[in-house]
Amino acid sequence: MYRLEPELYDRLIRAEKIHPAVLEWLPRGIDRIAEVGAGSGRLTLQLLGRAGEIVAVEPAAPLRDLLIQRLARAEHGRRAKVVDGFFDDLPLPDEWADLVVACSAFTPDPGHGGDAGLAEMERVCRPRGCVAIVWPNNLSWLEARGYRYLSFGDEELFVEFASLDEAVELTEIFYPAAAAQVRRRARRRVSFATLGINPPRDVAFKVMAA
Ligand SMILES: C[S@@+](CC[C@H](N)C(=O)[O-])C[C@H]1O[C@@H](n2cnc3c(N)ncnc32)[C@H](O)[C@@H]1O
Repeated sequence: MYRLEPELYDRLIRAEKIHPAVLEWLPRGIDRIAEVGAGSGRLTLQLLGRAGEIVAVEPAAPLRDLLIQRLARAEHGRRAKVVDGFFDDLPLPDEWADLVVACSAFTPDPGHGGDAGLAEMERVCRPRGCVAIVWPNNLSWLEARGYRYLSFGDEELFVEFASLDEAVELTEIFYPAAAAQVRRRARRRVSFATLGINPPRDVAFKVMAA
């Protein structure tokens, strides 16, 4: 999907916005951020004003291209460099970043992070820096590895599709079990509950030892 249909995937994630409280919680005024699995930049663009230097690691070339185009148009976009790489082989020195973050990308599966990927993220993080997994998908696994958990708000949250047609088309592709309900309700905004997924309002994090 990321390589063959990057535009399609990008239309979905533009509708699935990270909760503002998560963005508020992430640190500002720091020197360096490493983001892993940056995709087309849903989180990267939100990080631009926060650090002097950002490295966005993304293995899928078409998503890297989308992100590079977006950064070229963004304020502070030149602070970010987009590079190829994987969770378990990050092209960065030890203790390079104040914040090492992944959004909707890290899982316990070795192909999407796993123990080797988490160890790499921690290697790249400086002492007293923070490793943050935004929108984590397996809390108990992360908690067992010393990660704390925060969830923001309890209001109902919605995927903000650009139009009703877009809502129907994208739910048919990405959330087929919910497609009939989306067609019946005929609204552009679709709750995360309808799609059967957790909203992106949470983060698991570890502050590295001094
Ligand atoms: C669901 S997308 C999320 C993208 C972006 N972080 C966002 O929030 O929109 C998952 C991303 O992780 C990347 N990815 C998948 N496996 C990876 C790996 N082993 N190492 C690094 N990134 C990976 C994919 O290419 C994709 O860009």
